[in-house]
Parts: sequence; C-alpha cells; structure tokens
Amino acid sequence: MKVKQFRYSADNLGYLIYGEESAIAVDGGAFEQMLSFIEEHCLELRIVTNTHSHGDHTCGNRELAEATEAEFINVGELPSRRTLPLEGSRIDIIHTPGHTADSVCFYIPGILVSGDTLFNGKVGRCFTGDIRTFYKSIRKLLELPGDTVIYGGHDYVREYLEFARMVEPSNSFINAYLRRYDPTHVFASLEEELKVDPFLRLNEPSVTSFLKSRNLPVSTEYQRWESLMSLM
Ligand SMILES: [Fe+2]
Repeated sequence: MKVKQFRYSADNLGYLIYGEESAIAVDGGAFEQMLSFIEEHCLELRIVTNTHSHGDHTCGNRELAEATEAEFINVGELPSRRTLPLEGSRIDIIHTPGHTADSVCFYIPGILVSGDTLFNGKVGRCFTGDIRTFYKSIRKLLELPGDTVIYGGHDYVREYLEFARMVEPSNSFINAYLRRYDPTHVFASLEEELKVDPFLRLNEPSVTSFLKSRNLPVSTEYQRWESLMSLM
C-alpha cells in the first residue's frame, strides 16, 4: 500500500491510501486533485472517511462520494470497525481522542496518517480539554516503530519548530529537521519527531529546565505534559 499526500487551503493535508487498483480517501478537501490522481492511476475509490469531524477535514466528502461509487464512513463509526480492508491488506484504525473525541489515526506498517493528533513538529491541540486522555493517545502512538512515517493533517512545521526551539534552544536536531523539510511533501519519521517535539521529550533534562524556568510543575512525566500543554 502507498500513501499520496494532497495539500489544500494553505496548510491542510489530506491523503489517498491506495494499492494496485483501489483507494481510500482520508480527509478529502483536495477532492479535485484526488479525483484526477484516481483517474490518472486507474484506481477505484472504495471508501471516503476522515481523521476527525472538524469541517476543514470533512469538506470534500460529499464531492468525492458523489463523483465515485465510494462508501462514506462517518469518523464516529471507525473505532468500532478497528480496520479498513484494502486489496487483501488492512488499515488499522487507532482511536486517539484528545484533539477531538472522535479523532483517529490510520496505520499501515511504516506509515501513520495522524490527522490533527500528531503533526510534524508537535502534537496537536487538545480541543476536548481532556489533557489526560490526549496524553494516553499520544503514548499509544509512541509504541509504533521508530521508522513509521508520520503524515499529519496540517503543515505547521515552521511554526512548531519555533516552539520547539523556544523550549530547547540548544537542540541541534531542530536545524537538521528544518533543512530536510519540504512543503511539497510534508513528513518525518516518528524517530525524527522524538528528536524535536518537546511533548515527546518530556524526560529530557532540557525540557524540565525550561518548565522550571517558567515556574511550572515538573515532578512527573504527566505533570510536565500538563505544564507544556498550559503554554499552548
Ligand atoms: Fe482539527
């Protein structure tokens, strides 16, 4: 299985997960580009679905479903399905509440389509306000292999790397990450994220020092998570 990234509305990123002859659309805001790609590669669109129910991710659902024979699967139904089939393989659905209660990530070995749960450069915003549940969702993603490529729902790389630099000014990997950054194909491995995203680096002494300098609680990993979240 392969993944093709599509950019729309300045910084939104949607995806086609596809095989030899069929595809699944995840966050179809770039529906015109997606339909052209599907036609060009002689693919059949089987399913249209989303990483979560925010309008900037669900726009395009209707257009994709109307232009094809695809089945529309509401994001709320995904956690109970657990997997989506594609050409004899399966796409695992990981329920990751936090950004929204219905947020999910799509996993195939080597690739995670992570919506607004985990971006390149930083975790997403916790709009549910349930910071503990969001923490657990991110911990779940950290169990994936380090070489898993993270494909997020927006390109906020430059902005979020500035946040990372504020927390860890002497983290030399931030510059290396930015040098490799390409706005026409936005991705990084989980291993690379672990080198820059302060929310994934809660046990680094430099992150603890930064939080202490802001007079924020640092006693446990979860406290450091809460402290960093309070700065968002
Ligand atoms: Fe969102």
